[in-house]
Amino acid sequence: MEFCEVQDNQRMAGRLLQTDAAILARLATQHNTRCNTPWRKPHFPLTINRQTLKSRTARVIMVPVVARTVNPSLPGKRSRTMRQLVFIVAAFCVASWMADTASAQSSRGGSERRGFDYGGAPEFDSPPLAKSDAEKRALAALDAMTKDQWYLNVTTREGRVLRQLAEAVGAKRIVEIGTSSGYSTLWLAMAARATGGKVFTHEIDPEKVKIARANFERAGLDDVITIVEGDAHETIKRHKEPIDVVFLDAEKKGYVDYLEKLLPLVRPGGLVLGHDMHRPMPDPRYIEAITKNPDLDTSFIMMESFGISMTLKKR
Ligand SMILES: C[S@@+](CC[C@H](N)C(=O)[O-])C[C@H]1O[C@@H](n2cnc3c(N)ncnc32)[C@H](O)[C@@H]1O
Repeated sequence: MEFCEVQDNQRMAGRLLQTDAAILARLATQHNTRCNTPWRKPHFPLTINRQTLKSRTARVIMVPVVARTVNPSLPGKRSRTMRQLVFIVAAFCVASWMADTASAQSSRGGSERRGFDYGGAPEFDSPPLAKSDAEKRALAALDAMTKDQWYLNVTTREGRVLRQLAEAVGAKRIVEIGTSSGYSTLWLAMAARATGGKVFTHEIDPEKVKIARANFERAGLDDVITIVEGDAHETIKRHKEPIDVVFLDAEKKGYVDYLEKLLPLVRPGGLVLGHDMHRPMPDPRYIEAITKNPDLDTSFIMMESFGISMTLKKR
Protein backbone atom coordinates (compact mmCIF):
# COMPACT_ATOMS: atom_id res chain seq x y z
CA MET A 1 0.00 0.00 0.00
CA GLU A 2 1.49 3.32 -1.02
CA PHE A 3 1.55 5.59 1.93
CA CYS A 4 3.95 8.39 1.52
CA GLU A 5 6.24 10.00 -0.93
CA VAL A 6 9.44 11.36 0.49
CA GLN A 7 11.17 13.84 -1.73
CA ASP A 8 14.58 15.28 -1.19
CA ASN A 9 14.68 13.74 2.26
CA GLN A 10 18.28 14.37 3.13
CA ARG A 11 17.92 18.13 2.84
CA MET A 12 14.59 18.36 4.53
CA ALA A 13 15.58 16.00 7.28
CA GLY A 14 18.28 18.44 8.32
CA ARG A 15 15.58 20.87 9.37
CA LEU A 16 13.78 18.42 11.58
CA LEU A 17 14.21 17.21 15.11
CA GLN A 18 17.34 15.13 15.55
CA THR A 19 15.65 11.73 16.00
CA ASP A 20 13.12 12.29 13.27
CA ALA A 21 15.81 13.57 10.95
CA ALA A 22 17.72 10.37 11.44
CA ILE A 23 14.64 8.30 10.69
CA LEU A 24 13.79 10.28 7.59
CA ALA A 25 17.35 10.17 6.39
CA ARG A 26 17.28 6.38 6.71
CA LEU A 27 13.98 6.40 4.90
CA ALA A 28 15.47 8.36 2.07
CA THR A 29 18.09 5.71 1.54
CA GLN A 30 15.79 2.75 1.93
CA HIS A 31 12.83 4.09 -0.01
CA ASN A 32 14.04 6.39 -2.66
CA THR A 33 10.74 7.79 -3.77
CA ARG A 34 7.92 5.78 -2.25
CA CYS A 35 7.50 3.78 0.93
CA ASN A 36 5.02 1.24 2.23
CA THR A 37 3.34 1.17 5.57
CA PRO A 38 3.83 -2.04 7.49
CA TRP A 39 1.48 -0.74 10.11
CA ARG A 40 -2.02 0.08 8.96
CA LYS A 41 -4.00 0.88 5.87
CA PRO A 42 -4.23 4.66 5.42
CA HIS A 43 -7.48 6.40 4.55
CA PHE A 44 -5.86 8.46 1.84
CA PRO A 45 -2.50 8.77 0.12
CA LEU A 46 -0.36 11.26 1.96
CA THR A 47 2.30 13.28 0.21
CA ILE A 48 5.15 14.74 2.15
CA ASN A 49 6.92 17.43 0.21
CA ARG A 50 8.83 20.63 0.92
CA GLN A 51 5.59 22.54 1.57
CA THR A 52 4.14 20.18 4.13
CA LEU A 53 7.41 19.79 5.97
CA LYS A 54 7.81 23.55 6.13
CA SER A 55 5.08 24.12 8.67
CA ARG A 56 5.49 23.76 12.38
CA THR A 57 2.45 21.47 12.44
CA ALA A 58 4.16 19.17 10.01
CA ARG A 59 7.30 19.03 12.14
CA VAL A 60 5.40 18.42 15.33
CA ILE A 61 2.69 16.09 14.05
CA MET A 62 3.52 14.62 10.67
CA VAL A 63 7.04 13.59 11.45
CA PRO A 64 6.18 11.48 14.49
CA VAL A 65 3.33 9.94 12.50
CA VAL A 66 5.62 9.06 9.62
CA ALA A 67 8.31 7.93 11.99
CA ARG A 68 5.96 5.67 13.87
CA THR A 69 4.45 4.38 10.67
CA VAL A 70 7.72 3.30 9.18
CA ASN A 71 9.35 2.36 12.45
CA PRO A 72 6.89 0.62 14.76
CA SER A 73 9.69 -0.34 17.13
CA LEU A 74 9.84 3.13 18.69
CA PRO A 75 9.65 3.13 22.50
CA GLY A 76 6.22 2.85 24.14
CA LYS A 77 6.16 6.39 25.58
CA ARG A 78 6.84 7.82 22.14
CA SER A 79 4.10 5.66 20.68
CA ARG A 80 1.58 6.87 23.28
CA THR A 81 2.44 10.51 22.57
CA MET A 82 2.03 9.93 18.88
CA ARG A 83 -1.39 8.30 19.37
CA GLN A 84 -2.47 11.22 21.57
CA LEU A 85 -1.35 13.69 18.92
CA VAL A 86 -3.18 11.82 16.18
CA PHE A 87 -6.29 11.71 18.37
CA ILE A 88 -6.14 15.47 19.07
CA VAL A 89 -5.69 16.29 15.38
CA ALA A 90 -8.53 13.96 14.37
CA ALA A 91 -10.84 15.43 17.04
CA PHE A 92 -9.96 18.95 15.88
CA CYS A 93 -10.69 18.06 12.24
CA VAL A 94 -14.06 16.47 13.10
CA ALA A 95 -15.04 19.42 15.34
CA SER A 96 -14.15 22.04 12.75
CA TRP A 97 -15.95 20.09 10.01
CA MET A 98 -19.08 19.86 12.19
CA ALA A 99 -18.94 23.55 13.07
CA ASP A 100 -18.51 24.47 9.42
CA THR A 101 -21.42 22.29 8.31
CA ALA A 102 -23.68 23.55 11.09
CA SER A 103 -22.91 27.18 10.34
CA ALA A 104 -23.64 26.56 6.66
CA GLN A 105 -27.04 25.12 7.49
CA SER A 106 -28.40 27.25 10.26
CA SER A 107 -30.53 30.21 9.30
CA ARG A 108 -30.39 31.75 12.73
CA GLY A 109 -27.71 32.88 15.10
CA GLY A 110 -24.95 35.44 15.02
CA SER A 111 -22.63 33.67 12.59
CA GLU A 112 -21.90 35.44 9.33
CA ARG A 113 -21.89 32.08 7.52
CA ARG A 114 -25.49 30.92 7.46
CA GLY A 115 -28.16 29.84 5.03
CA PHE A 116 -29.48 32.91 3.31
CA ASP A 117 -26.35 35.04 3.57
CA TYR A 118 -23.67 32.38 3.87
CA GLY A 119 -20.64 33.14 1.74
CA GLY A 120 -19.78 36.64 2.79
CA ALA A 121 -20.54 39.66 0.65
CA PRO A 122 -18.06 42.51 0.18
CA GLU A 123 -18.60 45.64 2.28
CA PHE A 124 -19.99 47.56 -0.69
CA ASP A 125 -22.63 44.95 -1.56
CA SER A 126 -26.14 46.30 -1.07
CA PRO A 127 -29.68 44.89 -1.28
CA PRO A 128 -31.48 44.81 -4.63
CA LEU A 129 -33.59 47.88 -5.39
CA ALA A 130 -37.13 47.59 -6.69
CA LYS A 131 -37.84 49.27 -10.03
CA SER A 132 -41.59 48.72 -9.84
CA ASP A 133 -44.31 47.91 -7.32
CA ALA A 134 -44.39 44.34 -8.60
CA GLU A 135 -40.67 43.97 -7.99
CA LYS A 136 -41.06 45.58 -4.58
CA ARG A 137 -43.66 42.97 -3.65
CA ALA A 138 -41.48 40.10 -4.87
CA LEU A 139 -38.43 41.39 -3.00
CA ALA A 140 -40.48 41.85 0.17
CA ALA A 141 -41.66 38.23 -0.06
CA LEU A 142 -38.08 37.06 -0.57
CA ASP A 143 -36.93 39.13 2.38
CA ALA A 144 -39.69 37.68 4.57
CA MET A 145 -38.53 34.18 3.64
CA THR A 146 -35.07 34.93 4.99
CA LYS A 147 -36.64 35.64 8.38
CA ASP A 148 -38.54 32.36 8.24
CA GLN A 149 -37.22 28.82 8.48
CA TRP A 150 -34.38 27.90 6.15
CA TYR A 151 -35.40 25.11 3.76
CA LEU A 152 -31.96 24.37 2.30
CA ASN A 153 -32.48 27.35 0.01
CA VAL A 154 -29.81 29.06 -2.07
CA THR A 155 -28.21 32.08 -0.45
CA THR A 156 -29.52 35.55 -1.19
CA ARG A 157 -26.42 36.31 -3.23
CA GLU A 158 -26.83 33.10 -5.23
CA GLY A 159 -30.50 33.88 -5.80
CA ARG A 160 -29.62 37.28 -7.22
CA VAL A 161 -27.07 35.72 -9.54
CA LEU A 162 -29.64 33.16 -10.74
CA ARG A 163 -31.98 36.00 -11.61
CA GLN A 164 -29.22 38.00 -13.29
CA LEU A 165 -28.08 35.06 -15.42
CA ALA A 166 -31.60 34.03 -16.44
CA GLU A 167 -32.59 37.59 -17.28
CA ALA A 168 -29.32 38.24 -19.13
CA VAL A 169 -29.84 35.29 -21.48
CA GLY A 170 -33.45 36.37 -21.98
CA ALA A 171 -34.71 33.07 -20.61
CA LYS A 172 -38.31 32.37 -21.53
CA ARG A 173 -38.39 28.78 -20.36
CA ILE A 174 -36.66 28.02 -17.07
CA VAL A 175 -36.70 24.55 -15.51
CA GLU A 176 -35.80 24.11 -11.86
CA ILE A 177 -35.33 20.76 -10.14
CA GLY A 178 -35.87 21.07 -6.36
CA THR A 179 -38.34 23.78 -5.35
CA SER A 180 -38.37 23.38 -1.57
CA SER A 181 -40.03 26.53 -0.19
CA GLY A 182 -39.50 28.30 -3.51
CA TYR A 183 -36.81 30.83 -2.65
CA SER A 184 -34.63 30.22 -5.72
CA THR A 185 -37.79 29.83 -7.80
CA LEU A 186 -38.83 33.37 -6.92
CA TRP A 187 -35.48 34.81 -8.05
CA LEU A 188 -35.80 32.91 -11.33
CA ALA A 189 -39.42 34.02 -11.62
CA MET A 190 -38.36 37.66 -11.36
CA ALA A 191 -36.26 37.06 -14.47
CA ALA A 192 -39.16 35.27 -16.16
CA ARG A 193 -41.49 38.19 -15.37
CA ALA A 194 -39.02 40.54 -17.07
CA THR A 195 -38.54 38.36 -20.17
CA GLY A 196 -42.17 37.29 -20.53
CA GLY A 197 -41.13 33.73 -19.71
CA LYS A 198 -42.13 30.91 -17.36
CA VAL A 199 -40.51 28.86 -14.61
CA PHE A 200 -41.31 25.16 -14.31
CA THR A 201 -40.22 23.99 -10.90
CA HIS A 202 -40.17 20.31 -9.86
CA GLU A 203 -40.73 19.15 -6.28
CA ILE A 204 -41.31 15.69 -4.83
CA ASP A 205 -42.44 16.69 -1.33
CA PRO A 206 -46.15 17.71 -1.14
CA GLU A 207 -45.55 19.69 2.08
CA LYS A 208 -42.88 21.80 0.37
CA VAL A 209 -45.20 22.30 -2.58
CA LYS A 210 -47.80 23.84 -0.23
CA ILE A 211 -45.25 26.17 1.36
CA ALA A 212 -43.86 27.18 -2.02
CA ARG A 213 -47.28 27.86 -3.47
CA ALA A 214 -48.09 30.25 -0.62
CA ASN A 215 -44.77 32.05 -1.14
CA PHE A 216 -45.39 32.40 -4.87
CA GLU A 217 -48.77 33.99 -4.20
CA ARG A 218 -47.34 36.29 -1.55
CA ALA A 219 -44.66 37.44 -4.03
CA GLY A 220 -47.27 38.00 -6.76
CA LEU A 221 -45.32 35.72 -9.10
CA ASP A 222 -47.57 32.66 -9.10
CA ASP A 223 -48.74 33.43 -12.65
CA VAL A 224 -45.24 32.86 -14.08
CA ILE A 225 -44.52 29.70 -12.07
CA THR A 226 -45.76 26.17 -12.70
CA ILE A 227 -45.11 23.68 -9.92
CA VAL A 228 -44.67 20.13 -11.19
CA GLU A 229 -45.26 17.78 -8.30
CA GLY A 230 -43.66 14.31 -8.20
CA ASP A 231 -40.33 12.62 -8.77
CA ALA A 232 -38.49 14.89 -11.18
CA HIS A 233 -36.68 11.94 -12.75
CA GLU A 234 -40.08 11.02 -14.17
CA THR A 235 -41.84 14.38 -14.43
CA ILE A 236 -39.08 16.08 -16.46
CA LYS A 237 -39.87 13.68 -19.29
CA ARG A 238 -42.93 15.86 -19.93
CA HIS A 239 -40.75 18.72 -21.20
CA LYS A 240 -40.77 18.87 -24.98
CA GLU A 241 -40.04 22.54 -25.74
CA PRO A 242 -36.58 24.13 -25.90
CA ILE A 243 -35.28 25.25 -22.50
CA ASP A 244 -33.19 28.38 -21.90
CA VAL A 245 -32.04 27.79 -18.33
CA VAL A 246 -31.96 24.67 -16.16
CA PHE A 247 -31.30 24.99 -12.44
CA LEU A 248 -30.46 21.74 -10.61
CA ASP A 249 -30.93 21.83 -6.85
CA ALA A 250 -32.29 18.44 -5.75
CA GLU A 251 -30.45 15.29 -4.62
CA LYS A 252 -26.86 15.42 -5.86
CA LYS A 253 -26.80 11.82 -7.11
CA GLY A 254 -29.61 12.69 -9.50
CA TYR A 255 -27.78 15.49 -11.34
CA VAL A 256 -26.32 13.23 -14.04
CA ASP A 257 -29.73 11.80 -14.87
CA TYR A 258 -31.33 15.26 -14.92
CA LEU A 259 -28.56 16.49 -17.19
CA GLU A 260 -28.86 13.56 -19.57
CA LYS A 261 -32.61 14.02 -19.86
CA LEU A 262 -32.69 17.83 -20.14
CA LEU A 263 -29.52 18.72 -22.04
CA PRO A 264 -30.95 17.71 -25.44
CA LEU A 265 -33.73 20.28 -24.85
CA VAL A 266 -31.43 23.10 -23.74
CA ARG A 267 -31.08 25.52 -26.63
CA PRO A 268 -27.62 26.40 -27.93
CA GLY A 269 -26.54 29.41 -25.87
CA GLY A 270 -28.62 28.17 -22.93
CA LEU A 271 -27.35 27.51 -19.43
CA VAL A 272 -27.37 24.55 -17.06
CA LEU A 273 -26.76 25.71 -13.51
CA GLY A 274 -25.97 23.24 -10.73
CA HIS A 275 -26.14 24.11 -7.05
CA ASP A 276 -23.93 22.80 -4.22
CA MET A 277 -20.73 22.47 -6.20
CA HIS A 278 -18.68 23.24 -3.11
CA ARG A 279 -20.80 21.74 -0.37
CA PRO A 280 -22.43 19.33 0.14
CA MET A 281 -19.97 17.38 -1.99
CA PRO A 282 -21.01 17.34 -5.66
CA ASP A 283 -21.25 14.05 -7.55
CA PRO A 284 -17.91 13.57 -9.37
CA ARG A 285 -19.79 11.99 -12.28
CA TYR A 286 -21.70 15.26 -12.73
CA ILE A 287 -18.48 17.28 -12.62
CA GLU A 288 -17.05 14.99 -15.29
CA ALA A 289 -20.18 15.29 -17.44
CA ILE A 290 -20.07 19.09 -17.48
CA THR A 291 -16.31 19.53 -17.77
CA LYS A 292 -15.33 16.84 -20.29
CA ASN A 293 -17.94 17.45 -22.97
CA PRO A 294 -16.66 19.67 -25.83
CA ASP A 295 -20.22 20.87 -26.50
CA LEU A 296 -20.23 22.52 -23.09
CA ASP A 297 -18.22 25.17 -21.31
CA THR A 298 -18.37 25.25 -17.52
CA SER A 299 -17.25 27.71 -14.86
CA PHE A 300 -17.65 27.29 -11.12
CA ILE A 301 -18.89 30.42 -9.44
CA MET A 302 -19.71 31.56 -5.91
CA MET A 303 -17.55 28.77 -4.55
CA GLU A 304 -17.06 30.73 -1.32
CA SER A 305 -20.51 29.48 -0.31
CA PHE A 306 -22.39 26.47 -1.67
CA GLY A 307 -21.06 27.01 -5.18
CA ILE A 308 -22.75 26.95 -8.58
CA SER A 309 -21.63 25.28 -11.79
CA MET A 310 -22.48 27.46 -14.77
CA THR A 311 -22.51 25.41 -17.96
CA LEU A 312 -23.02 27.00 -21.34
CA LYS A 313 -24.35 24.81 -24.15
CA LYS A 314 -22.26 26.09 -27.03
CA ARG A 315 -23.86 27.35 -30.22
C1 LIG B 1 -31.96 21.98 -1.66
S1 LIG B 1 -33.69 21.88 -1.72
C2 LIG B 1 -34.10 23.05 -2.97
C3 LIG B 1 -33.93 24.48 -2.53
C4 LIG B 1 -34.48 25.47 -3.50
N1 LIG B 1 -33.94 25.30 -4.83
C5 LIG B 1 -34.18 26.87 -3.04
O1 LIG B 1 -33.04 27.31 -3.18
O2 LIG B 1 -35.10 27.54 -2.52
C6 LIG B 1 -33.90 20.36 -2.55
C7 LIG B 1 -35.33 19.98 -2.83
O3 LIG B 1 -35.32 18.95 -3.82
C8 LIG B 1 -36.40 18.11 -3.57
N2 LIG B 1 -36.16 16.82 -4.25
C9 LIG B 1 -35.26 15.86 -3.89
N3 LIG B 1 -35.33 14.85 -4.75
C10 LIG B 1 -36.27 15.15 -5.68
C11 LIG B 1 -36.77 14.50 -6.82
N4 LIG B 1 -36.34 13.28 -7.20
N5 LIG B 1 -37.72 15.12 -7.54
C12 LIG B 1 -38.18 16.35 -7.19
N6 LIG B 1 -37.72 17.01 -6.11
C13 LIG B 1 -36.78 16.43 -5.36
C14 LIG B 1 -36.43 18.01 -2.06
O4 LIG B 1 -37.72 17.59 -1.60
C15 LIG B 1 -36.07 19.41 -1.64
O5 LIG B 1 -37.22 20.19 -1.37
